[in-house]
Amino acid sequence: MTLPESVNIVEVGARDGLQNEPKVSLEAKVSLIDSLSQSGLRYIEAGAFVSPKRVPQMADSDRVFSNIQRRPGIIYSALTPNVRGLEAALEARADEIAVFASASESFSQNNIHCSIAESLARFEPVIALAQQHNIKVRGYLSCVADCPYEGATSPNMVADIAKAMYDLGCYQISLGDTIGSGTPLRIANMIEAVSARVSLSDLAVHFHDTYGQALANIYQALTMGIDTIDSSIAGLGGCPYAPGASGNIATEDVIYLCHGLGIDTSVDLNTLVQASSAICKALNRVPQSKITLAQILHQ
Ligand code: HMG
Ligand code: MG
Repeated sequence: MTLPESVNIVEVGARDGLQNEPKVSLEAKVSLIDSLSQSGLRYIEAGAFVSPKRVPQMADSDRVFSNIQRRPGIIYSALTPNVRGLEAALEARADEIAVFASASESFSQNNIHCSIAESLARFEPVIALAQQHNIKVRGYLSCVADCPYEGATSPNMVADIAKAMYDLGCYQISLGDTIGSGTPLRIANMIEAVSARVSLSDLAVHFHDTYGQALANIYQALTMGIDTIDSSIAGLGGCPYAPGASGNIATEDVIYLCHGLGIDTSVDLNTLVQASSAICKALNRVPQSKITLAQILHQ
């Protein structure tokens, strides 16, 4: 078994994490992103240009982008479901964007109000316009293990849509276990099916931790050669259209795992733990990260 020498962390806490919180001030968002920028993270998803009626928590993403202190070398990205979202992201000077589709029809309808085929067609002009502006486009694919409405997803379906997104121009496909119910064997089967169509080096994993399997699933993905991991500070997160889904795996816990395995991440764990404690204080919430909890208890 070989593990990657280094991994890229995609920090999604300020978007996936905060999109699920009842109320977060602009100051708390900006302060979170600024402290994450000090930690050595190189990729921070800072907001989403989606319908403010559907996800009001992201409605101030333009102000988030204009108030953060950008550090050279860090990519600050945003979710953009359509051309309107991309235009707002360009205005906000997002460095990269992400489109998002689902491997299940019901989740697609609930999350973005269209079929999978319609969503892929909608991405075409988004990707074309992004490319004209030299903006790279990442692709999220949700429900790669299970759908909250339809149950188990077929690995071949995941592979087909991942390949379609890649062919449309997404440089990387982030495989999302949206409701966090996957286990290592099923995740391995899914990654095997997808990697027959899209190269492992163009895949990332995005695991919510509802059933406590995310770290085991990440380890599984690492052993198969995946070296980009999405995670969320303090384990914040969830999707408003995935009932019962809890947060993403905590970034602190992924960093601890990787360093323990001798894998380089570029990230300073202590700085992360401080950022995690600060955002949890602002949200009046207990961190979901085992590492942050352990470190707070030892202080
Ligand atoms: P629609 O619902 O089909 O309807 O939108 P629409 O196109 O007629 O737009 C509805 C309203 O939104 C209209 O306003 C539009 O003008 C406006 P109204 O006329 O009612 O006043 N609108 C916009 N406003 C701002 N920015 C825009 C925009 N587009 C339309 N870009 C749409 C389709 C996709 C836009 C909508 O359904 C939507 O925004 N959905 C939200 C989806 C979302 O953000 N979900 C959470 C993120 S995905 C996720 O968490 C999963 C992930 O983490 C991976 C994983 O875990 O699996 C990525
Ligand atoms: Mg997610």
